[in-house]
Amino acid sequence: MKKLNIGLVGCGFMGRAHSNAHRKVGNFFDLEYQPVLKAICDFNEERAKSFAARWGYESVETDWKKLIARDDIDLIEICLPNNAHAEVAIAAAKAGKMIICEKPLARDGKEAEGMVKAVEKAKVPNFVSFNYRRVPAVTLAKRLIEEGRLGRIFHYRAKFLQDWTISKDVPQGGDALWRLDVKAAGSGVTGDLLAHCIDTALWLNGSIEKVNAMTETFVKERVHQLTGKVQKVGIDDACAVLARFANGSLATFESTRYARGHKALNTFEINGEHASIAWDLHDLHRLAYFDHRDEGKLRGWRSIHVTDHGGDHPYMDKWWVPGLQIGFEHSFVHQLADFLQGLADGKPASPTFREALETQYVCDAILRSAKLGKWEKVKRV
Ligand SMILES: NC(=O)c1ccc[n+]([C@@H]2O[C@H](COP(=O)([O-])OP(=O)(O)OC[C@H]3O[C@@H](n4cnc5c(N)ncnc54)[C@H](O)[C@@H]3O)[C@@H](O)[C@H]2O)c1
Repeated sequence: MKKLNIGLVGCGFMGRAHSNAHRKVGNFFDLEYQPVLKAICDFNEERAKSFAARWGYESVETDWKKLIARDDIDLIEICLPNNAHAEVAIAAAKAGKMIICEKPLARDGKEAEGMVKAVEKAKVPNFVSFNYRRVPAVTLAKRLIEEGRLGRIFHYRAKFLQDWTISKDVPQGGDALWRLDVKAAGSGVTGDLLAHCIDTALWLNGSIEKVNAMTETFVKERVHQLTGKVQKVGIDDACAVLARFANGSLATFESTRYARGHKALNTFEINGEHASIAWDLHDLHRLAYFDHRDEGKLRGWRSIHVTDHGGDHPYMDKWWVPGLQIGFEHSFVHQLADFLQGLADGKPASPTFREALETQYVCDAILRSAKLGKWEKVKRV
């Protein structure tokens, strides 16, 4: 087995999800590469030390530049707020490190372009963590579409709804709340939540040509955690989008943090000439499928429990026995397994930085359209 030394930056939510994947992947997948948890880096030293102890990292850094300068690190994993992605990734690429970067790739397309340029110039393996592609039910949806079962696609409908910023007393900026600070996040729900829906949509249904969007910032001012002052809120709290795909299908996308009762309702439904499919993160192991060609008296929506083996249900033969489900964290194990397999095969796992740039361009077009109040074309990658 080849050892792959990991240097992970940022020990928050995603630091945990990625560390968990590193610890599990070799236990469940047969791979040539074995990750070694060499170093954890966070500018909060206390947090980094306790994180290292909990997850078994061999060493601790508080400055990502020092981490990147180390000869014993092969891969830099970026689990930082969005404003740090570009600087760290570009430095890591220059140092010849492989990179796994959390989504969204950057705060906007221009920033992302610099990252794509840097990894391609350095010829280093690179990958963006749009993990929902690797939920087995979503991967199964991709296979069904590729098999042509839906026929011509007419409609794509997706949303990602939350409700945690409704109170005007939630501050913006700083630890844990950087998502509400436009300088750190780049945008609000468009880059944070809708980017997931867009990545899945591009993967399942091809490129988006143009969009017409509206956004709203319901709470206009919030206390900034770092300055203690009441400051203007620059992010979009909600967005609603009409879109047209290159294949002629029509789409609606919606995202908000103001949908009372919803914590992470990430869904899509696709309607084709012969069949429809639908998926919902709250019931992530199920794929709903309706096929008009079924015998009339049995025709109806099927709820496929995506837990079978025998090669039919993606990834599931690596886990337990048929009928036993897995969860959110497994999507990170799957993407890591695919990334490591890609290293062994020389066939990069998707999405690479360049592929993720397309999502960034769609997000840019959405924000531009909302600002200008008109249809906007999506820049081509
Ligand atoms: N794929 C997904 O489902 C998913 C889910 C959540 C977040 N994300 C993405 O992951 C990234 C991180 O989000 P999170 O929720 O883990 O954030 P978080 O706030 O939970 O953690 C960020 C960590 O980074 C540290 N940090 C910040 N700036 C630093 C710097 N310059 N140097 C060193 N350490 C620094 C903080 O101290 C903190 O521990 C974001 O880009 C976000 O969009 C993806």
